[in-house]
Amino acid sequence: MAFLKLILLIFTLHSFMPTPISSNPSLNKEVLARIRPDFLEFAKKPVIMDWMIGIRRKIHENPELGYEEFETSKLIRAELDLMGILYKYPIAGTGIVGYIGTGKPPFVALRADMDALAMEELVEWEHKSKVPGKMHACGHDAHVAMLLGAAKMLQEHRNDLQGTIVLIFQPAEEGGGGAKQMLDAGALDNVDAIFTLHVSTRHPIGVVASRSGPLLAATSFFEAVITGKGGHAALPQHTVDPILAAANVIVSLQHLVSREADPLDSQVVSVGKFQGGGAFNVIPDSVTIGGTFRAFSKESFVQLKHRIEEVITKQASVQRSNAKVTFDEKSTYPVLFNNKELHEHFRQVAGEMLGIQNVVQAELEMGGEDFAFFSEAIPGLFFFLGMKNETQGPPQSGHSPYYIVNEDVFPYGAALHASLATSYLSENPAKDTSAPEGSSHDEL
Ligand SMILES: *[C@@H]1O[C@H](CO)[C@@H](O)[C@H](O)[C@H]1NC(C)=O
Ligand SMILES: [Zn+2]
Ligand SMILES: [Zn+2]
Repeated sequence: MAFLKLILLIFTLHSFMPTPISSNPSLNKEVLARIRPDFLEFAKKPVIMDWMIGIRRKIHENPELGYEEFETSKLIRAELDLMGILYKYPIAGTGIVGYIGTGKPPFVALRADMDALAMEELVEWEHKSKVPGKMHACGHDAHVAMLLGAAKMLQEHRNDLQGTIVLIFQPAEEGGGGAKQMLDAGALDNVDAIFTLHVSTRHPIGVVASRSGPLLAATSFFEAVITGKGGHAALPQHTVDPILAAANVIVSLQHLVSREADPLDSQVVSVGKFQGGGAFNVIPDSVTIGGTFRAFSKESFVQLKHRIEEVITKQASVQRSNAKVTFDEKSTYPVLFNNKELHEHFRQVAGEMLGIQNVVQAELEMGGEDFAFFSEAIPGLFFFLGMKNETQGPPQSGHSPYYIVNEDVFPYGAALHASLATSYLSENPAKDTSAPEGSSHDEL
């Protein structure tokens, strides 16, 4: 076990060194370069690979929506039990927080989401969803499998860890804000940093993408009920037409980004729902519209929200209608912000594992992710894990009923999780190692 000895050697050396390993270039480059690929080799072993694939397929066959991940959570806990990993459950309903290592600082977290989407799978294959109207079409089944894969490797090296790795299995990423619930339940108490990955069909397998600073937009949903006075369509003078009011509202909403926002500050307002009326000759009493808005800064986001409400109510009143606007707080996510130092750390670790040419700059996206709550609370890093393999056909985007996860990506995800966490612990030793016992994690 040359690997184990190496790790022990580093930690032994480490305790005598006043500064982090990274400040010693020879030890850093040589030793770390030999440690990290080992996780990848280990994760590529058929026995580990097949085990991860088995877990993912089981979850894929039985997709569960946000806050209903009961069987998924049970399966994860059964695997943690088999590995002898301690955990806290339930957190935010179905969530689980596992612990590997000393139970003492530093604490570094790795996160996977567990929920599926309310849609019908159209891929015909052996492990197709067995639940009508539900599908894992965002890869969260794969995220769970890869985090369990990392847990297996980390648990094998638990005695070498100088700190604690916290495994976060969260419910309800898809619009439910499960991360916020986990946070409020104390899942990240005492945790110094958190990493997560999302599989990506836009990047090739073996490539990872991220960026420092903002990566994904702040997002929210709004709904408005616009009420007029229904009646005969041939006698408009006796009615107050909410369809016309809603149409004007929608046009006015489109002026918010085009006329009020800084053209260099990306924002979007989209109306995706318009429901009203049912007959050709009847003006209905009311119309319901709904949509989403996104922005890359808190200020723009707050301003947009304020103006959406104002434009809807005031524009409706121009047409003599009343409007009531509601915002879905549960699905309001902040900007996903990546910590600069963690991004550097990610580039170094992923670069050593995959080659630095395969660590690319991610494009900003107007999509949202509730990991933003975690990375708002503590330093966090979100990266895309490429899984596109053109020889296996053109990939379908996330949330498509034809979405397919490329299971070849699992060793990369598991190994990156494991490497990011272990190297974080060795490069960020606890500030005061002589701290009293009381300073250890309350949860353990
Ligand atoms: C891409 O797919 C082909 C065909 O299945 C396979 O032979 C190859 O190993 C895959 N490439 C990677 C990087 O996984
Ligand atoms: Zn999704
Ligand atoms: Zn997702």
